[in-house]
Amino acid sequence: MLDWFRRWLGYPEGAGGLLTSGGSAASIDAFVAAREAAGNPERPSVYMSDQSHSAQARAAMIVGVGREAIRQIPTDGAFRLDMAALARAVAEDRDAGLTPMTVCANGGTTSTGAIDPLHAMADLCRAQDIWLHVDAAYGGFAAITKKGGELLSGIERADSVGLDPHKWLFQPYEVGCLLVKDARTLESAFAFHPTVLQDTVWGANHPNLGDRGLQLSRAFRALKIWMSIQTFGMFAFRRAVSKGMELARRAEEYAQESRTLELLAPASLGIVCMRLNPESADLEDDTLEEVNREVLARLFWEDRAFVSSTSLRGTFSLRLCIINHSTGWDDVRETLEAMERFGEDALAA
Ligand SMILES: Cc1ncc(COP(=O)(O)O)c(C=O)c1O
Repeated sequence: MLDWFRRWLGYPEGAGGLLTSGGSAASIDAFVAAREAAGNPERPSVYMSDQSHSAQARAAMIVGVGREAIRQIPTDGAFRLDMAALARAVAEDRDAGLTPMTVCANGGTTSTGAIDPLHAMADLCRAQDIWLHVDAAYGGFAAITKKGGELLSGIERADSVGLDPHKWLFQPYEVGCLLVKDARTLESAFAFHPTVLQDTVWGANHPNLGDRGLQLSRAFRALKIWMSIQTFGMFAFRRAVSKGMELARRAEEYAQESRTLELLAPASLGIVCMRLNPESADLEDDTLEEVNREVLARLFWEDRAFVSSTSLRGTFSLRLCIINHSTGWDDVRETLEAMERFGEDALAA
């Protein structure tokens, strides 16, 4: 199973990892390995964008990085990490006596699906000898499609990648995954060989997954992934992921043409963010937030669709994340039409 993932990401042989409860646990294991690789520095610092999932900052804190040494780097208009700001932060921290330990890139942010500049981040990390982790919990499995593979180019240069099969590989909770480019980095961080477990050591061809992360007794998480891929075939998975991206793009187009919807972030992977903001109405942000909250609640309570919301630089946004394999254009179009209709109702009230 792990070897399939390794190949999908373009990782070399010798890469390896483990299945975890989810993306948060994968990040903790990655940061422990990164700390070990950096020689367990006294004053480590980590870097991530201001769009990174809170799981990354939490993982950094758990491995002992002080809150004041967790740098949230600003992002550009498309919510991708600003490279110049990252390089500046790393240089300033080195001058201040900190040890830059991990740069954490997004392989699809949760809010907008933005993908950070992976090649540029890999270049910086190589030059500065910093561990590069890619949080691809949401977006990583786009790599099974041609377009997704192109968008995620550079992910194969990371020291570690977090993935969530329970997101875009359509699996039931819980199953996450951490892959590291060199499986030995995980084992040197985690392996213990107490005598009471000596009967479980079967040699190099039987990696002991308990030596690769924080969990010892483990569920057979690989089974559901393996079975669903055997049952439906990779073609079905590729088609479902591609369709999610295509539907997000069509929803973006719809919003651009609509007189009542305002696009707030470009479609990226399977996510597109927008709000109700009729051209003719000239409304303040506070009023728009009220209207959009009302639209969101009606979509949910009237069983139209499970749209979520986010805040983009302080602006309340509706967030369509198309991640169900059975969603089709009719579902998305009807959702967008309902958004427009509910918005008009809210404004008329
Ligand atoms: C980009 C990203 N990273 C990390 C996580 C955390 O993953 P989990 O909930 O599987 O712990 C999520 C979502 O939950 C996510 O979207």
